[in-house]
Amino acid sequence: MGLWSKKSIVELRAQADSAEGGLKRSLGALNLTMLGIGAIIGAGIFVLTGTAAANFAGPGVSLSFVLAGLACLFAGLCYAEFASMIPIAGSAYTYSYATMGEGVAWFIGWNLVLEYLFAAATVSVGWSGYFSAMLASVGVHIPAAFASAPLTVVNGHEVVRAFTCVDPTSGVALVDAATSAAYATREACLAGGGEVVNGLINLPAVLLILALTFLLVRGVQESATFNNIVVAIKMIIVLLVIGFGFMYVNTDNWTPFIPEMVTNPDGSTKYGVAGVLRAAPVVFFSYIGFDAVSTAAQEAKNPQRDLPIGMIASLLICTVLYILMSLVMTGLAPYTALGVAHPVSAALEAVPQLKWLEYLVNIGAVAGLSSVVLVMLMGQPRIFYTMSRDGLLPKIFSRVHPTYQTPAASTWIVGIIAVVIAGFFPLGLLGELVSGGTLAAFATVCIGVWVLRLRSPELTRPFRTPLVPLVPILGAGATLYMMYLLPKLTWQLLAAWTAIGMTIYFVYGMRNSTIGQQEQQGR
Ligand code: ALA
Repeated sequence: MGLWSKKSIVELRAQADSAEGGLKRSLGALNLTMLGIGAIIGAGIFVLTGTAAANFAGPGVSLSFVLAGLACLFAGLCYAEFASMIPIAGSAYTYSYATMGEGVAWFIGWNLVLEYLFAAATVSVGWSGYFSAMLASVGVHIPAAFASAPLTVVNGHEVVRAFTCVDPTSGVALVDAATSAAYATREACLAGGGEVVNGLINLPAVLLILALTFLLVRGVQESATFNNIVVAIKMIIVLLVIGFGFMYVNTDNWTPFIPEMVTNPDGSTKYGVAGVLRAAPVVFFSYIGFDAVSTAAQEAKNPQRDLPIGMIASLLICTVLYILMSLVMTGLAPYTALGVAHPVSAALEAVPQLKWLEYLVNIGAVAGLSSVVLVMLMGQPRIFYTMSRDGLLPKIFSRVHPTYQTPAASTWIVGIIAVVIAGFFPLGLLGELVSGGTLAAFATVCIGVWVLRLRSPELTRPFRTPLVPLVPILGAGATLYMMYLLPKLTWQLLAAWTAIGMTIYFVYGMRNSTIGQQEQQGR
């Protein structure tokens, strides 16, 4: 009982079909695909590609995109089978509840918080950086104290007070002339004639989250319409960069495509085939989000057909765009020049004829990152909604707004937690933690599909994952391998996160679980 209790698929289907007190079904295949693309294209391609190329793979980063994309495709095919069978907003959490029991389901639900809530906070901070830069380019400067959280992470793990170096008269942020980047230390800032301003709050990130939360509470259709517009803008800009970029590619930059392996001063290595593999979990972040489509299961008009379409179509479209985009970026500029916060602009800077695209890229990034935050903030309350209906979280999370038919209370709670994380906490550590949590969920879904095929082959599966068990084995193998490649610190944080989660489960969830209580009464 308890830890191993499973939900019956038949009951889950009945729950998915029941309209009583439920969410509003208004999304079709196109909206779902756009939601997928909305969640996928964001900080990964606009920020991480450059780091992955400069620090790990060189132009071979396109191969890392192929590898991570294949792993996601295998996982996506498994998600699609589950989503068509069990169209419930809990996504991987519910699929695990049906196949591996309540304990694993809680573990996965808790990991999905890393994927959705923490990704929303992380990406909103990336958005704030692009947004502030865009305003600065038209002469509007956000006061430095309100553009950064009070704390930041340096050297990968040290938490220190965050500061910005500004011009003492104008208050405009200064860059270190020697490195063309922000000043690394307070002393260097003062020596360069700047003034040190401590960060108080990342206000743009906070305001973005509050605005999107408000929109999400108002209605899923309204949110989907906003998402459609934003996705159209970012896709057009990505296509422009690819189209015009290819005309100016210098193939010398692609040679050698996989640079020779180099040993770093700390003994680690970069480049070579090992570098291409190591970059895969870094660029994996770019693909996160296609599974958010499955959290809209109870708002889809025809979930059994449209959820698989939404997930697989958005994933395939983005995989192709990513491979082309990484080829263009590493073809325009030497990969060593791309290890910066704005790598797409850095690539375009190498070709004077493409200067005009730089401003558009900022708009694309602002649009792109905002829709990622939107869809992540949409997914999380829906997972909590399902967990609450199962008794594993308090009932407030499953309250549906009488007029808007959205999980309004849950949406506000998630929004406010995201505001606190994004506005006040250091986020430097979170990127790979988000990937770690997501990879764990993907591996579980892959294994779950196979388990359920063996245990209940007779169930109707509107979408069937091809080549079972090969695809689930490849999906689980690839995602677990990428988890294995994550740094030690990420593993330690994942372990701490799991320990907190399991404590909450044993103290609250296990005692209040609806299934657990039914089993007790049955005895
Ligand atoms: N895939 C999302 C991004 O790259 C999380 O921002």
